[in-house]
Amino acid sequence: MGVRGNLTDEHLRSFHSQGFLVVESFCGPEEIDAMMGRMNHLLENFDCSSTSIFSTRNQKQSSDDYFYESADKISFFFEALHEIDPVFCKFSCSEKIAGLLSSLSYRRPVIIQSMYIFKQPGIGGEVVPHQDNSFLYTEPPSCTGLWLALEDATIANGCLWAIPGSHKNGLVRRFIRDDNGVHFDQPSPSYDRRDFVALEVKAGSLVVLHGDLVHQSFENQSPKSRHAYSVHAVETDGCSWAADNWLRKKAEPEPLYSS
Ligand code: FE2
Repeated sequence: MGVRGNLTDEHLRSFHSQGFLVVESFCGPEEIDAMMGRMNHLLENFDCSSTSIFSTRNQKQSSDDYFYESADKISFFFEALHEIDPVFCKFSCSEKIAGLLSSLSYRRPVIIQSMYIFKQPGIGGEVVPHQDNSFLYTEPPSCTGLWLALEDATIANGCLWAIPGSHKNGLVRRFIRDDNGVHFDQPSPSYDRRDFVALEVKAGSLVVLHGDLVHQSFENQSPKSRHAYSVHAVETDGCSWAADNWLRKKAEPEPLYSS
């Protein structure tokens, strides 16, 4: 199937040199309203008696069945939205997402994980510096993060921060699931906060993140929420999903296209 790439040469140059790219106005207000409205509806009907909070800092919080099972169902942090919910699937499997991945030279990409991030005022937590390839590892590594701002993301409400060019230094550690539960295989390097730049973006902007890019976000200390929807793509043509990833699928997801 022919999928036409939709990134410009300038986009690609910027992405390859910085490790990230902001595509402004990737989504219009109707698409954003549809996703936020849908999430509101899911929340109204949600049984929150058992919940798990994803944390890049405290591994203990993430080592329960609810977290594992999120691979195949919609959980409190809504990990499988792209597969199960029609509104989120429409965006995640859209031609423009496929076109973007085609521009990035994906041959048979799958969306392996998705997440709705609420980042509520005052309580929206910090996400410590990490690389997405640590969590969604293929051999060779192939993850790209697509982070859609559903509301304006600012320094005050906890926007993304990244170290430009850090993707060129390779993957420093992996997050593994084995008989001991889930854990990193290496301690975290220490990063200098001054190396990070803030990625403040308007609602509707898509931030594309190389899987080896070091990025983080801080607490939301503002009175405004910062909703975002992120999906992660990996290559299945010539790349194999690592058996010791925390995320295990009962079946391989359908590729967005095959070229
Ligand atoms: Fe990330």
